[in-house]
Amino acid sequence: YEKQDARPSKQRLLVVANRLPVAAFRTGEDSWHLEISAGGLVSALLGVNEFETRWIGWAGVNVPDEAGQKSLAEALAEKRCIPVFLDEEVVHQYYNGYCNNILWPLFHYLGLPQEDRLATTRSFQSQFAAYKKANQMFADVVYANYKEGDVIWCHDYHLMFLPKCLKEYNSEMKVGWFLHTPFPSSEIHRTLPSRSELLRSVLAADLVGFHTYDYARHFVSACTRILGLEGTPEGVEDQGKLTRVAAFPIGIDSNRFIRALELPEVKEHIKELKERFAGRKVMLGVDRLDMIKGIPQKILAFEKFLEENPVWRDQVVLLQIAVPTRTDVPEYQKLTCQVHEIVGRINGRFGTLTTVPIHHLDRSLDFHALCALYAVTDVALVTSLRDGMNLVSYEFVACQAEKKGVLILSEFAGAAQSLGAGAILVNPWNVTEVAASIGYALTMPADEREKRHQHNFMHVTTHTSQEWAETFVSELNDTVVEAQLRTRQ
Ligand code: G6P
Repeated sequence: YEKQDARPSKQRLLVVANRLPVAAFRTGEDSWHLEISAGGLVSALLGVNEFETRWIGWAGVNVPDEAGQKSLAEALAEKRCIPVFLDEEVVHQYYNGYCNNILWPLFHYLGLPQEDRLATTRSFQSQFAAYKKANQMFADVVYANYKEGDVIWCHDYHLMFLPKCLKEYNSEMKVGWFLHTPFPSSEIHRTLPSRSELLRSVLAADLVGFHTYDYARHFVSACTRILGLEGTPEGVEDQGKLTRVAAFPIGIDSNRFIRALELPEVKEHIKELKERFAGRKVMLGVDRLDMIKGIPQKILAFEKFLEENPVWRDQVVLLQIAVPTRTDVPEYQKLTCQVHEIVGRINGRFGTLTTVPIHHLDRSLDFHALCALYAVTDVALVTSLRDGMNLVSYEFVACQAEKKGVLILSEFAGAAQSLGAGAILVNPWNVTEVAASIGYALTMPADEREKRHQHNFMHVTTHTSQEWAETFVSELNDTVVEAQLRTRQ
């Protein structure tokens, strides 16, 4: 986004997401250190040059003083980012509470919080009130920066209330909303106390997008069953107003990964890793340390595999990169302890004086180290219990042109719909099945690996993030034009 050409003839795209693509750290009264946080959405939009993009979001830091807010806004402006300032209480109730303790687990089929989880934050009502308040604060910043003709693209479950707030400001705004998580079956969504209000707010958008056709279908049926609205092949209709609903599967900037593998620094890293793990097959997991990623289940399946296949014990290693996330939420703290306990037990059980079967890291890796790791991997294990898409599976495939390793992929990740034919699909809850799949993957004949890899590589390199973003925005422009034509008729 920094390097983008800003010719005024380009259409302006306001990308609104909870988190800005840069994290801010205060280094003095009015000085800031900005670090790019390259999540899926950031890398997706990095390659998009068709629009003049501005980002609007939370900088992930509490800035109570006006002088600090002013200096941070100036520093961020250079990166084409516009901050939304949320105070600590709002962050606690909106982000930790309603977003991460209620919507996130619910949308991933983990249900609403039981009493012990609710008791850790305030009541559901006050969290929902904070959620609406935060969404209104985002809307205020969007509106203050809006120019006629801009396209506004709202992202994710944090901002389901935003389309409505924006349209209340100006019904002419072109508003799209995209969900990066699954949208669950209407039977799950209907348990949410604020189910109707959220659906109605999203329906204020012109275009609503999901990663898969199934998520789109669940959304439409929630609108039909909960709101009594008519679902059409185009979307959802309410008193003559159509909200277009469709699937737009995200991808990655595959060339960025392929190019990185050519860098001398990365090649050196690959060489070191190969030497370090010589004589052993490398299995890899890269996940945020989140309950939806099924990390305990994955490690237990690996344990079962070692238990049943003693010959493999000194011939395979599992590298698990577990990136800490949402560390203020108690559920995440509990998960960290649980994973550490299981890893410790398995390493104690199968380790020797010189080796351990699992290398578990509680941190992220820089981009080049990650590419090198993907390139030396024989088997990648993506065992999410639910996952909107899961781009780790795409990144792994992009880095495997030489090795043609095997992808074991959860059937509950959105990516199963696109990489299913090349991957070994598993039910992550079935530890026996995953253990057997590990054995199958490790011994798969080269020609089968090659065939599976080619299928996935073709998909990952042709369905890119750039194409995803451009398709969504052009569909949004078309949807608005069609709606105008319809009202004129
Ligand atoms: C998921 C969500 C994103 C979120 C990311 C990291 O991918 O869909 O919206 O930004 O996780 O989580 P965090 O809570 O740290 O922003």
